[in-house]
Amino acid sequence: MHDKVPYLDLPAQIRPLRKEIDAAIARNLDACSFCLGPDVVQFEKDFAKYCGSEHCVAFNSGTSALHVALLLLNIKQGDEVITTPCTFVATSWAISYVNATPVYVDVDDATFNLDPNLIEKAITPRTKAIVPVHLYGHPFDVDPILAIANKHNLPIVEDTAQAHGAKYKGKSVGTFGAMSCYSFYPGKNLGAAGEGGALITNNAEYAKRARSLREHGSTVRYYHDEIGFNYRMEGIQGAVLGVKLKHLAQWQEARRRVAHRYHELLADTPLRLPREPAYAESAWHLYTVRHPRRDELKKFLDDNGIGNAVHYPMPLHLQKVYAHLGHKPGDFPVAEKAAGEVLSLPMYAELTDEQIQRVVSTVKKFFAKK
Ligand SMILES: Cc1ncc(COP(=O)(O)O)c(C=O)c1O
Repeated sequence: MHDKVPYLDLPAQIRPLRKEIDAAIARNLDACSFCLGPDVVQFEKDFAKYCGSEHCVAFNSGTSALHVALLLLNIKQGDEVITTPCTFVATSWAISYVNATPVYVDVDDATFNLDPNLIEKAITPRTKAIVPVHLYGHPFDVDPILAIANKHNLPIVEDTAQAHGAKYKGKSVGTFGAMSCYSFYPGKNLGAAGEGGALITNNAEYAKRARSLREHGSTVRYYHDEIGFNYRMEGIQGAVLGVKLKHLAQWQEARRRVAHRYHELLADTPLRLPREPAYAESAWHLYTVRHPRRDELKKFLDDNGIGNAVHYPMPLHLQKVYAHLGHKPGDFPVAEKAAGEVLSLPMYAELTDEQIQRVVSTVKKFFAKK
């Protein structure tokens, strides 16, 4: 019996970096700069540069960054925000936290991202912003969405939580909208040793107010200009992220290699494989395939030691928490069909060719069985 292939192998990522990470944490401990501090400031500079953006404001999570992004746009009760039902729930949390209403628009069948052709129909006089997601690390089709946003004078907040290093027509995602929000949850392409997030923007006013909102609505200690939050990034996370950022480009290359290998080896299976449209350079956060017999395939992979996961089993418009929006099955058929068919295979920079072969041969065994 072969070893299992884990869905995610964080120990394999950390092992070769242990010395560097240990030294960075030790420096941070010696300096006792635990909340924000120089390591976070340095990481903000480095990550802004990596993204090709002027400002980076570090947060304690991607969810907090998204919340603050909507506060910066003064979105409030009675406002509507157009977004996707095909994402992790945190995208919608931000809209709910400011008491606005998420207005879902169905996704494109090929990319799982907002379908630009359906957005205009959803715009009303109450619409105040669009929050599209670069799901699984695949860039959404920026140009047509930007054209609609500009025509209706609506700001875009890009949810780049899964898309570190992705490019649209050669330019980093996250630089097209008014701002974008990243997550550094440990399993992300760039992950902290705990929670973390960032807001990226070219707008100095947004960056300034974001810094205040993350720190109790304060720019001068113990003087508070508005209701704020404790959304600060921890110093240790800044130190660890600073080390890992240096390896990100190389990890992205490795993810591309894994994706291409899967493409080659799975091409002759009945699975529908993810593709990069001509405009996209994916971050390959996930390698998500589709098949109508997803649940059976999932069980077969589970039984045979191949890690896998479903992102996501229920679109947001059908979640109990959003029942008050009054949606029913059939409202967003493309998102609903995807939720029943998607399955993410192991995808990380450290995945070996032998492990990829094992994943593929197990998938092939499943289809050979019946
Ligand atoms: C698409 C998306 N948006 C937002 C978030 C929230 O980020 P965090 O977990 O850092 O709060 C995540 C990550 O989990 C995500 O995948």
